[in-house]
Amino acid sequence: MTFNEYNFAGKKAIVRVDFNVPLNENGEITDDTRIRGALPTLKKIIADGGAAIIMSHMGKPKGKVNPKFSLGQIRAAVEEALGCPVAFAPDCAKAQDAAKALKMGEALLLENLRYYPEEEGKPVGIDKEDPAYDEAKKAMKESQKEFAKTLAAYADCYVMDAFGTAHRKHASTAVIADYFDADNKMLGLLMEKEVTAVDNVLSNIKRPFVAIMGGSKVSTKIGIIENLLSKVDKLILCGGMTYTFSKAHGGEIGASIVELDKLDVALEVEKKAKENGVELVLGVDSVCCTGYDFGNFCVKPGAQVKVFPSNAIEEGWDGLDAGPESRVKFANAIKGAKTILWNGPAGCFECDEFTAGSKAVGEAIAEATAEGAFSLIGGGDSVACCTKFGLTDKVSYISTGGGALLEAIEGKVLPGVAAIKG
Ligand code: 3PG
Repeated sequence: MTFNEYNFAGKKAIVRVDFNVPLNENGEITDDTRIRGALPTLKKIIADGGAAIIMSHMGKPKGKVNPKFSLGQIRAAVEEALGCPVAFAPDCAKAQDAAKALKMGEALLLENLRYYPEEEGKPVGIDKEDPAYDEAKKAMKESQKEFAKTLAAYADCYVMDAFGTAHRKHASTAVIADYFDADNKMLGLLMEKEVTAVDNVLSNIKRPFVAIMGGSKVSTKIGIIENLLSKVDKLILCGGMTYTFSKAHGGEIGASIVELDKLDVALEVEKKAKENGVELVLGVDSVCCTGYDFGNFCVKPGAQVKVFPSNAIEEGWDGLDAGPESRVKFANAIKGAKTILWNGPAGCFECDEFTAGSKAVGEAIAEATAEGAFSLIGGGDSVACCTKFGLTDKVSYISTGGGALLEAIEGKVLPGVAAIKG
């Protein structure tokens, strides 16, 4: 069953969305891309004369109630965006009455699914090395099924529309699908759109294909980096990863972030790139600082900012953005690309002193897009960069997925898709 074929009139649909949106210290949403992304699906259900039971996680409360991660904080914003009454159920597993009382044309937002460890299905309070772990895991898998069944019982049909979480095999993203027959479960419009965008990149690669991977650690990106080395023509590696590569070649990196246990991985990436004929583009200079406040995204009073070669950073200086030469190098590498993938910023873009690297990357992508490239941007920080630099309308597609997008690009079948499509 496809979403558009389904008539929701008189039906209650339980919809898994990814409303894991960033909030500021006052609990206000700082980027509503994911809420806007789910609206077409939710609006169609309501417009058909159905009712939507909206479920999501927020953050990582690790199976415990934690008001910091309450979805109650975004109820009003969801109501405003959706344009119909949105009630709130403060306990997602005890929402039977609220689901029953829900009227057609209205919505119900359930509290954070991850307040229950059953959502993720990992046993809590027991170490993997513990001999009792396997038994605990088995028991948890059984409770996870019960939890999914409870959620399923609220509704007549199930819609999976949480692309950002589709790489997780959780109760609400996958297990729940077992409690609906094939005619009453489907992917939502956002999922369809995201999957098509990924297909566009993978099956219809127009060359040159340039990928830009940023972010602080090589370790978290190595799977996708290795995978991209068999697909792209050029791979720009920027952000904190730069210093692991510099260090691997014996460079001086001052106080910059580095993964000392990944130096061999960095060298291996360079070797593979060479073997595959991929042009690997790394930063050559860095904007560095003697005192950056990572909590408040600002330069500490009295701290200095200066550009160093990325392999000759003095003691006490921390590389926080791509320097002027690197920015030109990145922009030149992006120029003329016909397919572009960007994940991860080139620096600590939240602070004005260190936005230039990410801005240069974003603007070069926008220019290439204007000249006919297909550009796909994913991951919260790169999306935030596009918003900050006014580039959201100048790139081809902004994904709501971070990890999910990368896994999809790696060619992995996402559990959230497999649960529906088999
Ligand atoms: C994300 O922000 O990437 C998604 O919401 C998934 O969150 P997770 O990595 O905590 O599963």
